[in-house]
Amino acid sequence: MTALLSLRGVTAHYGASQALFGIDLDIAPGEFVTLLGRNGMGKSTTVKAVMGLNPATRGAISFDGADIGRLPSYKVAQRGIGLVPEGRHVFPNLSVRENLVATAHNRQGVAHPWTLERVYGLFPRLSERAKHLGSHLSGGEQQMLAIGRALMTNPDLLILDEATEGLAPLIVAEIWRIIRDIRATGMSTLIVDRNYRAVLEHTDRCLVMEKGLIVQDGDSASLARQPEQLTRYLGV
Ligand SMILES: Nc1ncnc2c1ncn2[C@@H]1O[C@H](COP(=O)(O)OP(=O)(O)OP(=O)(O)O)[C@@H](O)[C@H]1O
Ligand SMILES: [Mg+2]
Repeated sequence: MTALLSLRGVTAHYGASQALFGIDLDIAPGEFVTLLGRNGMGKSTTVKAVMGLNPATRGAISFDGADIGRLPSYKVAQRGIGLVPEGRHVFPNLSVRENLVATAHNRQGVAHPWTLERVYGLFPRLSERAKHLGSHLSGGEQQMLAIGRALMTNPDLLILDEATEGLAPLIVAEIWRIIRDIRATGMSTLIVDRNYRAVLEHTDRCLVMEKGLIVQDGDSASLARQPEQLTRYLGV
């Protein structure tokens, strides 16, 4: 099958310091994939390279058959990659509704697009808070808003970076329920999350990073059954 997202030999730097050392990665249409690894191994840097937020210094990134490696991030988003960034970054001075429509984009060919009504259906809480400012929301509500906002761009690939970070257990369970619902729609998704048990349960495939490289690419369910591998890769 042709990959939807494909990285070949991607390197990335922060100033003089190198963070990625040659990433090869493929995500097929409809695949649910997780990127795992200890702190500081390069997961968010990989996401930022894909999104053009901290562009790759070498290598190639293609999406849906087109080279996106040199595109600014708003163009990457327009091509069909929706990001829920680490730290959420909702617009604090816009209302919930305004946050959702600000970057909304019904790209051509989307048969069953995400609309305000559909996002409110997935997150009834956002509907109740529609007129409240982003800055007045709880952490869980901000996370729901960040996911809703990414869905409103009608992406072909959704990337979630630490979507359950710092949230209360009940809210975390709610976010996983939503991720299951999104999975059922067939949208391709890349999930980065500290809760390796949950993320392995909710994905088909896992990629493991160590020091700026992918060191393992396999089946999520089988990694979940290998405690010595989990200890080695994640220190758990
Ligand atoms: N803005 C930055 N400036 C300089 N170095 C950075 C910056 N962001 C990340 N790094 C460094 O790049 C490397 C990879 O970091 P990255 O944020 O990609 O890790 P991560 O796998 O997402 O970790 P975490 O699990 O903590 O989110 C680390 O050594 C980190 O210190
Ligand atoms: Mg990170």
